[in-house]
Amino acid sequence: MSGLRVMVLHGVNLDQLGRRDPGHYGSGSLSELEGTISGFAAELGHRVVFEQTNFEGEYVELLHKAPELGDALILNPGAWTHYAWAIHDALELTKLPAVEVHLSDVKAREAWRQHSVISDLCIGTIAGKGADGYRDALEMLGAHAASGATPSAR
Ligand code: DQA
Repeated sequence: MSGLRVMVLHGVNLDQLGRRDPGHYGSGSLSELEGTISGFAAELGHRVVFEQTNFEGEYVELLHKAPELGDALILNPGAWTHYAWAIHDALELTKLPAVEVHLSDVKAREAWRQHSVISDLCIGTIAGKGADGYRDALEMLGAHAASGATPSAR
C-alpha cells in the first residue's frame, strides 16, 4: 500500500496546548505534538498536513477543501466535538475515511464531553492516549486503506 496523505485538523483551543491542564493534555505545545505526529507518519510511510483554527466556519471550510488535499482525515475538533453539527455535516460531505482523536479520556470527564457529533462518521475514535492516539489513528487509516474499503464503507 502506498502512503496516505493525511490531513490532521485541530480545532478550538488546541493551539493553547502547553497552557491547558497538563493532567488532561500533557505539557507539550501544539507544534511539539505536530512534530511527534510527523515522526509517527514518517515511520508508517504516510504524509501529514496540519491545520488548526479557533473559528468553526474555517474548520468547516477546511473540511470542504479536504477531498482535494488529502486521502484521509484525523480530527480533533476540541470542544466543537460535542455540539458542532455543522462540522458533522461538513465531514459527511468529504466522504473521506476519518478517525476522531482526543488527547484526554473524554468518556471519563464531564457528561457534556461524553457525546460526539462526529463519531458516527468516523472509522474509529481514540481518546485518552495523548500523542500516541495519533499513531493509532494513522495505523487505523492505513489498515482501512489496505483493506480496500471504499470511503462510503466507513
Ligand atoms: C479534547 C477534549 C475536548 O473535550 C476538549 O474540549 C478539548 C480537547 C481532547 O483532545 O482531549 O479541547 O478534544
